Amino acid sequence: MAANLNASRVPILNLGPITRGVCVTMCGIIGCVSRREPVVELLLRGLKRLEYRGYDSAGIAVEYPSGIRITREVGKIRRLEDAVGASPQDGTTGVGHTRWATHGKPSEANAHPHVSADGRVVVAHNGIIENYRDLRRGLESRGIVFCSETDSEVIPNLIASHDRGDFPAAVRAALAELHGSFAIAVMHHDHPGVVIGARKDSPLIVGIASDRMLLASDAAAMLEATREMVFLEDGDMAVLTAESASFSRFDGTKVLRPSVTISWDLARAEKSGFEHYMLKEIHEQPQVVSDALLGAIGSGHEVNLEQIGLSDEVLRSLDRMCIVACGTSWHAGLVTKFWLERFARISSEVDYASEFRYRDPVMDSRTGLIAISQSGETADTLAALRRAKTDFNARTLGICNVQGATIARECDGLIMTHAGPEIGVASTKAFTGQLVAGFLLSLKLAAARGTLSPHEVRRLTDQLRRVPQWIARALESADAVRDVAASVADARGFLFLGRGANYPVALEGALKLKEISYMHAEGYPAGEMKHGPIALIDEGLPVVVIATRGPVYDKVASNVEEVRARGGRVIAIVNPGDDRVSKQASAIITVPETDPLLSPMINVVPLQLLAYEVARIRGCDVDQPRNLAKSVTVE
Ligand code: F6R
Repeated sequence: MAANLNASRVPILNLGPITRGVCVTMCGIIGCVSRREPVVELLLRGLKRLEYRGYDSAGIAVEYPSGIRITREVGKIRRLEDAVGASPQDGTTGVGHTRWATHGKPSEANAHPHVSADGRVVVAHNGIIENYRDLRRGLESRGIVFCSETDSEVIPNLIASHDRGDFPAAVRAALAELHGSFAIAVMHHDHPGVVIGARKDSPLIVGIASDRMLLASDAAAMLEATREMVFLEDGDMAVLTAESASFSRFDGTKVLRPSVTISWDLARAEKSGFEHYMLKEIHEQPQVVSDALLGAIGSGHEVNLEQIGLSDEVLRSLDRMCIVACGTSWHAGLVTKFWLERFARISSEVDYASEFRYRDPVMDSRTGLIAISQSGETADTLAALRRAKTDFNARTLGICNVQGATIARECDGLIMTHAGPEIGVASTKAFTGQLVAGFLLSLKLAAARGTLSPHEVRRLTDQLRRVPQWIARALESADAVRDVAASVADARGFLFLGRGANYPVALEGALKLKEISYMHAEGYPAGEMKHGPIALIDEGLPVVVIATRGPVYDKVASNVEEVRARGGRVIAIVNPGDDRVSKQASAIITVPETDPLLSPMINVVPLQLLAYEVARIRGCDVDQPRNLAKSVTVE
């Protein structure tokens, strides 16, 4: 049920002591102060573009002459839209929030924006307040009554408790008491036409337009209003009115923050006629690779990585690379390791960021730490990066898809993946962008270290330039993939096999399938199958095998024979003209033959399509799979 709360007369609902744990949130926030234009529609549209960050409940708070009206709703934004439908629409200042909770059930009371018990201060929050229990206890001892289970509700109450008539000063005083990660958007009943934003360890961007100021967790939410954006730094606060945006540190020191012009356009951030964002993003991959290569390969075949930030001398001095990442980005890291070792002859390891941060790794200033992250905000990857910098003085390099993201800003050097906004929760085009970045980095390192002949560099860069057309041809397998999907959509599970650089592709195929179709799938190095998983083989467990031509083709073909000998059903990804594996397979999907070193960029495409088609046949929510959020900004 929707709740229309007038903040100046907010109903007080005491839920009693907190017994159900922290409501950890990974959410999207938006705010707008406009001179004349009503903001309700803009907030709702912005929230829809932020929905990938969380979608279990949502709310908006809009300022009217009678007070701030808050509407909150459990479920997706379209339910909030229905709830807002009947309200007046003419308010010109407002904030909005879309929430994803990992603990504590999604409910109207736990949805944002939250309001102080005196009804004056309204806050939308993304992140987690680690010391909220202490803060809440202190506030309760002063008679403040809380309405939700959330950590976030302490923020408006803390601000209200510091309120002596100076709104920014009250926010600052509250910020000084908060521990944890947060991006907040704040409104005050006594200060109409003002929204204050602040960030620490959670993204927040200010949008600057001629007739309004905005803020949001993600640039895409503001693109319809402006392309001019200011990326706040950790510890920044922004005070927005319709005409101005002023920036300061939490301690009040004024700062100037340059604005940047975002090149993404709105059409690019929308579905462009595809049924789902994921499908659109799969089809964007040829363009992603072309964009990533723009300016990256010079006329002499040298690799130019503008923001790499590490001189050739430093690159030469490195004796080891350590890659940290999570999920799909970790798979991109595994492929990159293969290239780094092969091209640059540098020992490389790949760690789950969540493991690395709590291990006792051995590294020093001669170690190159590569943090791979689509969002650039993943909490574990960020923590691993910070640990490598502070504890070991490692040289750090980020591979990121989001301009201005925290990881992008905190690394010594950066390679942007140029994949554009990825809205589907399951990562596809960002993975391909990461592979291109990893390939270019490996070539760059090889050049600095003199480990590849000019002829080999020329050959590899020529091949890389052909990847967009190969991916475009791999996309032509869509019909064949759809038929295969129909034949396996009710299987009890899947095994994905690959070898060499295509072993991580097998892992990625399995991850895609389980994320969006909720079917169990495991990725394995094909040679390992006989050490255990072979026991699973029977007619009910389709085995997807990457069997394109290359140095390990014969080995993979033998593995396929092992599966067939046990009555297994093989779906093989093969090159045109393949006869050995194809004869053994129940179904084949053909992709163009490429240099085997580049084949992961092409071979992943039919696996992405297979996951998509199976999920669609099973009626799953492809773009917003259950229990998943796009940007995992808490541990
Ligand atoms: C899988 C997926 C996740 C992310 C992981 C890391 O489709 O999207 O596994 O790859 O959460 O996220 P980033 O790359 O933003 O650090």
